[in-house]
Amino acid sequence: MKDIERLKEEISKLKEQRNAIILAHNYQRDEVQEIADFTGDSLELSRTASTIDCDVIVFCGVNFMAESASILSPEKTVLLPESGACCPMADMITVSGARNIQTHFPGYKFTDGYTYPANFTLRDIKEKHPGIPVVTYVNTTADVKAESDICCTSANGVKVVESLDSDKVICVPDRNLAMWIARNTKKKIISWDGFCHVHDRVRRDDVLKAKEEHPEALVIAHPECRIEVLEIADHVTSTSGMLRFARASDAKEFIIGTEIGLLYRLRKENPDKVFHPLRRDMVCPNMKRTTLKSVLRSLETMTNVIKVPEEIRIPAKKALDRMLEIR
Ligand code: 13P
Ligand code: SF4
Repeated sequence: MKDIERLKEEISKLKEQRNAIILAHNYQRDEVQEIADFTGDSLELSRTASTIDCDVIVFCGVNFMAESASILSPEKTVLLPESGACCPMADMITVSGARNIQTHFPGYKFTDGYTYPANFTLRDIKEKHPGIPVVTYVNTTADVKAESDICCTSANGVKVVESLDSDKVICVPDRNLAMWIARNTKKKIISWDGFCHVHDRVRRDDVLKAKEEHPEALVIAHPECRIEVLEIADHVTSTSGMLRFARASDAKEFIIGTEIGLLYRLRKENPDKVFHPLRRDMVCPNMKRTTLKSVLRSLETMTNVIKVPEEIRIPAKKALDRMLEIR
């Protein structure tokens, strides 16, 4: 306990010396969320990174998030405390080379029914559908964003697609988010077959079982979950959307269909309400890599710096800016 307090104190001192701001995603460890200046979903953190006044951003999240911060604020030093904190879904699509999904899921075989073979790339899909706009989920690498027309997050996917002047839209890389968007728009969605291994593991039966155990509770699910889950959820939204929904709802009990890190804020902000995880194993190991020790180390040594080369940053920024303009 003493150790934690000492770490927090050292982080706070160094933060001041470096004129640094700590941003933390809603899935971070409780103690990391506690020391953050801002905690939020991907959209909120992108907006904060683009407007905040500081010299250094310590991004407690995964690499694509720190990349987005660096794309939006190239004049700032962006630090990702744990260099290995990645998003396996982001690695499921590349601009041109073979996909490196096997790094995270050795031996993974794509199930039947998906549109594209495993060696398909963003350039291939664009060639196959010339002139069709590409909407890229922020959970992608900077070079994929750079080849896209516009980005989206789980909070604004439908709005982004609706904003485009085209009846057909390509949505990459999350097949579940794409399917959810397709359910909520009249446009034809051409999807990819990527997925988040934390959300995709949940099945309809898990929801039915949780509802049986907690019959009074409302089910809130993240759009990275399968459509069979989303169809029977009471509400579908991003992580910060879940916080808003729980706050505003008259219900007293909720089943939460996203990474369990969100429970920290849900419980803290709603002490009179009860929250159950939809599945206890909804844990993103990459989000949990960051610890107080790694935050301190990154501020001490000013590592691991995330910097995107200008030839990628400029077109990637265009896609992110276009998204951020949509309210
Ligand atoms: P949001 O916080 O934008 O809902 O994203 C969830 C996620 O999986 C980020 O990696
Ligand atoms: Fe990627 Fe899923 Fe982890 Fe989010 S929760 S960082 S989408 S693996």
